[in-house]
Amino acid sequence: MIKVLIATDKPFAPVAVKGIRKVVEEAGFELVLLENYTSQDDFVKAVADVDAVIIRSDKADKSVIDAGNKLKIIVRAGAGYDNIDLQAATAKGVIAMNTPGQNSNAVAELALGMMVYYARNFFNGKSGSELMGKKLGIHAYGYVGKNVARIAKGFGMEVFAFDPFISRLEIEKDGVKWVSSVEELYSACHYISLHIPANSQTKQSVNFPLLSKMPSPACLVNTARAEVINESDLLKMFQERKDFAYLSDVEPANKAEIEAGFKARLFCTPKKMGAQTEEANVNAGIAAAKQIVNFIKNGDKTFQVNK
Ligand code: 3PG
Repeated sequence: MIKVLIATDKPFAPVAVKGIRKVVEEAGFELVLLENYTSQDDFVKAVADVDAVIIRSDKADKSVIDAGNKLKIIVRAGAGYDNIDLQAATAKGVIAMNTPGQNSNAVAELALGMMVYYARNFFNGKSGSELMGKKLGIHAYGYVGKNVARIAKGFGMEVFAFDPFISRLEIEKDGVKWVSSVEELYSACHYISLHIPANSQTKQSVNFPLLSKMPSPACLVNTARAEVINESDLLKMFQERKDFAYLSDVEPANKAEIEAGFKARLFCTPKKMGAQTEEANVNAGIAAAKQIVNFIKNGDKTFQVNK
């Protein structure tokens, strides 16, 4: 029988697991659960006799992929697939997929939620500010970026976006101001919300020269990946700009150092929370299960990312 493993060190909501189980069992497959695991070795062991794996931010590295004796497909229930070793998957003939768009509203709501929290002085009782009329720059206009724009417009923010892969027309049809360069985006906006993936082009690309272009007061919101930030430059921004705040769902490696000097201007969620809603878990989890069934039964490779 075909076995599908859910390997999640940060588990899906029970309602999502129930939905995934239904899809898997109706297809005549068996569901195996590995939740809250604490060592990569547990993942390596669990993958040995399964045909398919559903993961979240779990690391599907070479050790995992090579241990999958029958492994045919890995689906990242979510957008970013930087946690899958694509080279190792391709070398072993394993299909890797993501589920684009399925959890994007949840991430966007968190980005705006953190902005409100910051604008109101982290709810400390002192007069804060409002988002209405403020300039928000969306750095990458994919599914999450589009949802951030929709919600921010509801707040009455003036929304700008930069994305070299999305046409000006597509951005402008949403009532969002298109800018032609990343420098222009950062120069125009008090708030920047990051939605770039972590890859060889973007890693460490958000650096001091870019951040220092932001007008005062400047607030950077990161619900994307820690790796896209140059973290020593982030510290430098805190040191050189008293008006700079950083709100993050993906805490920097030098968090302790930043906190030591600038605690009042840093907020990090205690655990990556962006996609942590029942709705997002259901959407992404069930999409992943359906993609697996469709691939195994019909050879459908839509959403393959290691072509
Ligand atoms: C994604 O890439 O979809 C998000 O970062 C969500 O990650 P998570 O499933 O680990 O919460």
